[in-house]
Parts: sequence; C-alpha cells; structure tokens
Amino acid sequence: MKLVFATHNTNKFIEVKAMLPKHIELLSLTDIGCKEDIPETAKTIEGNAILKANYVRENYNLNCFADDTGLEVKALNNEPGVYSARYAGNSNDSSANIKKLLKNLEDFNDRSARFKTAIALNLEQEDTMFLGICEGVIVKELRGESGFGYDPIFQPAGFNKTFAEMTLQQKSEIGHRGKAMRQLIDYLSK
Ligand code: IMP
Repeated sequence: MKLVFATHNTNKFIEVKAMLPKHIELLSLTDIGCKEDIPETAKTIEGNAILKANYVRENYNLNCFADDTGLEVKALNNEPGVYSARYAGNSNDSSANIKKLLKNLEDFNDRSARFKTAIALNLEQEDTMFLGICEGVIVKELRGESGFGYDPIFQPAGFNKTFAEMTLQQKSEIGHRGKAMRQLIDYLSK
C-alpha cells in the first residue's frame, strides 16, 4: 500500500518510515511533487492535521496521514497550543518562543503543561484521528541539548529529566508523537 506522510521535514519522515510495517510504501510530499507548504489555518491542532491530510486527498487523490503538535500550558489557558511554532512571531524561533513562555509563566505556581500530537489519517476517503498526549511541567530554566522546540523546558511527569536531557529513543517511548504514531501503526497493521 502507498501512503503519503504530509511533511517536508526529512527527520520526521525518516523516523516514521522506520516505524512502519514494510508492506507500506511511505511517500513524502516531495515524492509526490508537492512543493508548497500546506497552509495550517485551523484553530485547533486536530483541525490542522485534518486540513493537511485532506489537502493531499483532494489534490493528489492518495491515501495520506498528517500530524500536528502543540504545547498546552494550563495556567496560560492552554497557550501556545496550535500556535506553538509561531508563539513569539512567524519565524519558528525556538529560543524566542521559550523566552516568551517562561516570561508569561513567571507569576504562576501551577506550571503543568502537556504536549499533544494529532495524527489525521485519510484512508480511502475516510478520516481517522489518533491522539498522543504527554503530561508534564515547564521547568524554570533550560536543561539539556538534544531534541528541538520546547524540549529544554518540558519535563514529563514521573521523570527528573527534560526531553532535551533524554535520548531520542527515551523521548519517543514516553512522548506524545510516539504515542500517536504507535496507535496509527497498530491501526494500519490490522
Ligand atoms: P509541528 O506541528 O510538529 O510542526 O510542531 C509545531 C511546533 O511545536 C514546533 O515548531 C515546536 O516548536 C513545537 N514542538 C512540536 N513537537 C515538539 C516536541 O516534541 N518537543 C518540543 N517542541 C515541539
């Protein structure tokens, strides 16, 4: 079966390809000749994932899945959420995003937060949604070098390391994206 993963992110693509059963031929947006960035104009994480999967269905008529992730901070009314990449402006600048988040959270004792990944699958015109959630807290100072985005300030519940202090394998075992991906893989393996 041919299946498109609606991403231009090569690292994500390689990671996901390695997890999928071998009978699935995974294609990237580049593989199907889609050069543009699919607009992420929905107001929710789930909405953006559906929008991207459906874009591929409508324009290329291929089976497809797409993911979208956000960090929801309880004391900030679940911000930055769907705007996680653009929290401090349009440039997806992780250090600026982290700086803004730490500043906004300065006066709150409740530092609980969660990462949420939504994966929307469009298989033979039918949409199915998979959600992966990882609960944790926002620490006060950056710790660790690995990962990306908000990893240096997110410490998952039950651990004393931030995501940026973990190996990629540890992170994907307990993290939001790994959880959502495993549900998708279970579904596709049936
Ligand atoms: P995307 O939907 O996977 O592109 O994620 C949107 C934004 O959320 C990214 O630009 C990062 O700022 C943040 N983000 C997503 N996943 C992670 C993660 O696993 N760790 C830290 N930050 C993340």
